[in-house]
Amino acid sequence: MEKKFKRTLVTTALPYANGPVHIGHLAGVYVPADIYARYLRLRGEDVVMIGGSDEHGVPITIKAKKEGVTPQDIVDRYHNIIKESFEGLGISFDVYSRTTSEIHNETASEFFRHLYDKGEFVEKTSMQLYDEKAEQFLADRYVTGECPNCHAQGAYGDQCEKCGSSLNATDLINPVSALTGSVPVLRETRHWYLPLDKWQPALEKWILEEHKEWRPNVYGQCKSWLDLGLQPRAVSRDLDWGVPVPVEGADGKVLYVWFDAPIGYISNTKELLPDSWQKYWKDPESRIIHFIGKDNIVFHCIVFPAMLMAYGDGYQLPDNVPSNEFLNLEGDKISTSRNWAIWAHEYLADFPGKQDVLRYVLTANAPETKDNDFTWRDFQARNNNELVAILGNFINRAVVLTHKYFGGTVPAATDLQPIDSDTLAELTTIKAALEENLDNFHFREALKEAMNIARLGNKYLQETEPWKVAKTDMQRTATILNVALQICANIAIAFEPFLPFMSAKLVKMLGGDKITWDMLGCTDLVPAGAVIAQPELLFEKIEDETIQAQLDRLERIKKENMLKNFKPEPVAPEIPFEQFEKLDMRVGTVLECSKVKKSKKLLRFLIDDGMEQRTIVSGIAQYYEPEQLVGKQVVFVANFAPRVIQGITSQGMILSAVNADGSLSVVTTINPATPGGKVG
Ligand code: MF3
Ligand code: ZN
Repeated sequence: MEKKFKRTLVTTALPYANGPVHIGHLAGVYVPADIYARYLRLRGEDVVMIGGSDEHGVPITIKAKKEGVTPQDIVDRYHNIIKESFEGLGISFDVYSRTTSEIHNETASEFFRHLYDKGEFVEKTSMQLYDEKAEQFLADRYVTGECPNCHAQGAYGDQCEKCGSSLNATDLINPVSALTGSVPVLRETRHWYLPLDKWQPALEKWILEEHKEWRPNVYGQCKSWLDLGLQPRAVSRDLDWGVPVPVEGADGKVLYVWFDAPIGYISNTKELLPDSWQKYWKDPESRIIHFIGKDNIVFHCIVFPAMLMAYGDGYQLPDNVPSNEFLNLEGDKISTSRNWAIWAHEYLADFPGKQDVLRYVLTANAPETKDNDFTWRDFQARNNNELVAILGNFINRAVVLTHKYFGGTVPAATDLQPIDSDTLAELTTIKAALEENLDNFHFREALKEAMNIARLGNKYLQETEPWKVAKTDMQRTATILNVALQICANIAIAFEPFLPFMSAKLVKMLGGDKITWDMLGCTDLVPAGAVIAQPELLFEKIEDETIQAQLDRLERIKKENMLKNFKPEPVAPEIPFEQFEKLDMRVGTVLECSKVKKSKKLLRFLIDDGMEQRTIVSGIAQYYEPEQLVGKQVVFVANFAPRVIQGITSQGMILSAVNADGSLSVVTTINPATPGGKVG
């Protein structure tokens, strides 16, 4: 850390309470924020980590409408699920609240009123999209259409998810109401706008000149925003769910969710520290760090800072905004609406006791500089080859050998040799590298450094071979195991921010108590004579079946989505009956059926066609076992010219229906039909 700060406020993007949290949220925001907060706490810094559910906004009202319940029902349900998931995963919030709380309502309301009284808003009447069927204005996610920038379909009224640009609903090309599917009309309405253009010079100076150290993706996005020139932004909406606009004559209007949600950071701090919250926001010796995903950059780097500047009264701007890119799942974009996600609460239920495994994999694959992919095979490999084979294995060997040769009492190191001191000296080097990475929000690299301690330990045992030395030299064995146990203790400290559950178990196993970051690099953490506990299993192998079950689940979801999205092809142009008559279709019975050699797709049929029997080759081998088809009746086109397929002469074509997922279902008869009979 270059500048010295007295205290740190770590904020995490408030997740919308319209669904549970998934691995994308965790990897992008909550795991890195938690690592950082835990690291600072271990260092003895004054740090507060806050979070809460974002309970206003259109995603929630849409979900409520779909289910026929109230928005309050929706947010109550998901707030609880989300909160429990975070607790389950050890995300160490000092407060996790919600934007429907009384204190938030008051704080957001007061914030707006203060800006209003200071004359910081521009009041404007304009034409906005209105759904005449639903009798309501359409903003944000209530309306979709073509993005005016990248021309993607399905852009929302507030943002295009394809190109990330932030939009006004009236910018959309061919807008359609998400409520009724109707085409909206324009209707006049009055709103309050925050003139971002007024803050442009101040924002330029603050970001472009004073925060060149921000991540390139964050700095770059801000710069392109500023280069485009900032426009006034409406901060109110015509909706009935949200914080009411605290101005007379504003009935039926609420604060825009992106106006009230970031104020949630302030209300949550207030809720936690009613008497001292201001220190974290207004003291220049405090600093604020916003952990967010890349779709939130503009709101945290431009809009919210402009709000804070407009408010004045000593509010500080964030010191850094470590924003991540996106995590994909098995190659596809994670999506709440398509259920394409690994949900935190389901993971916790499916993998009890394996919170650290997920934290590890998400950090090792953190999308810090580019989008990244989560795959179950990688999850399994990282668990089995890294956590079990490197980390768990080293600790287990050190502890088991101590029990074997010294009955669990830590032996003294009385015979230090260069290999021992060199190994121990490495710990200091690793500590420095860890700090450098953690201080700069490079969590992936930091985790690699922590893993290097375990690698160091394994290498040390491999080279010193205490199990061999023990046959002849107990004094030397004692020293080696003492060194190994010191490395274990260092692991417990270095990994606490990343794998807190493992760390706590390990501290207990080594007979330790409280750990601090200062202890890292020390070589006398487990004192000679102390008694250590029996080795406890820290990580266990994850079997193929477990992974297959997860892959099967994703496969099912893919199928379900395909069915949901299936739209039959448009019907072909009309034809006269005579044209149909030319097609000679017959019914036949399958006499024999076998796979065609060297082909994955083809089956060879012998058909009783009521005449001479005929051979037909059909591409349905992926969907049927040959035995299943013998004796069944099929419909085939009888008057095609014979074709040679893979050396077999095929006399016709068996009819199959094409399904949503591209698979085929053979067409058959309900009651037995006479082979050779015409179909028509
Ligand atoms: N709910 C928003 C999202 O999921 C994030 C809100 S962050 C806050 O994208 F700053 F507004 F709180
Ligand atoms: Zn776009």
